Amino acid sequence: MPATAMAFDGVTKQFGDFTAVDNLNFAIPEGCIFGFLGGNGAGKTTSLRMALDILSPTSGRIEVMGKEPSRENAAEIGFLPEERGLYKKMSVLDTIIYFAQLKQMEAAPAKSAAMALLERLELADWAKSPIEKLSKGMAQKVQVATALVNSPKLLMLDEPFSGLDPVNQAMLEDLIAESARNGATVIFSTHVMQHAERLCDRLLMLARGKKAFDGTQDEARAALPSRLALTAKADPSALPGVERTHAGESHDGWTRYEVELQQGIEPDALLEHCTANGVPLRSFDVQVPSLHETFIHFVGADEEIER
Ligand SMILES: Nc1ncnc2c1ncn2[C@@H]1O[C@H](COP(=O)(O)OP(=O)(O)O)[C@@H](O)[C@H]1O
Ligand SMILES: [Mg+2]
Repeated sequence: MPATAMAFDGVTKQFGDFTAVDNLNFAIPEGCIFGFLGGNGAGKTTSLRMALDILSPTSGRIEVMGKEPSRENAAEIGFLPEERGLYKKMSVLDTIIYFAQLKQMEAAPAKSAAMALLERLELADWAKSPIEKLSKGMAQKVQVATALVNSPKLLMLDEPFSGLDPVNQAMLEDLIAESARNGATVIFSTHVMQHAERLCDRLLMLARGKKAFDGTQDEARAALPSRLALTAKADPSALPGVERTHAGESHDGWTRYEVELQQGIEPDALLEHCTANGVPLRSFDVQVPSLHETFIHFVGADEEIER
């Protein structure tokens, strides 16, 4: 069992009468990429802020790398806040070095780490420019660099992809994957499923402050009934394990059917039945649900999220 990077135990946060985070329980193993998924107002930012000791829980316990949340852990944590903000007159390089020194790095290694990150983020030519000369996306990449400069063991990124164009989103995805390969635990929040789908080992789905799911992507998918598309001569409704079918196009006596299996029935079982009983089939394609579909299953379709 890997050690635990972060654990929430019955954590609730109230703002006055309003419950923003409601009795959350989950644990994040060290070294994984973990996604906080949820629509607007689901409680993602509030949860991250409690883990950073910016806010205190109303009740429950949080552990971050085996300790209570405390600002003193800041040197081991890289944080990208949801509201971005850097000092406009400072140069790109000085900004990153400044944050590195706040995290107790010496000047020389801070400078070389900052330059390496700027190369990586394709901003090396801008090292001497003041922040105010940068586009919004470029400034955001600089802010990502301030979170990464001391190679923290734990990275917490609040909506890191918002405000970036697709090219820079892909660059950031690579950087997150690379940080995890180098041993960091990465926690990020998003309302865009595709980033989570490509990156996350494990996820937490939040709905109005409550946990709707936590676990791996495979575990999330396994909760949905299996679906497949097959081409057959007759409607497969009556075959064992079939919940419902939908007929599509027909051609030369063959019809394409969308088939949903009963909960817990695997596509292999249906294929074996067809083979053993001589049911003629011309194609048999298992359809893997997207993370977006699992999100709708656990959280509902009303939340403001993107695929
Ligand atoms: N300081 C605060 N005072 C009152 N309500 C707050 C405060 N911070 C957050 N909230 C409310 O808590 C809920 C969760 O917010 P937040 O954690 O920012 O959600 P998310 O990051 O998932 O969009 C929202 O309804 C938000 O309006
Ligand atoms: Mg938020």
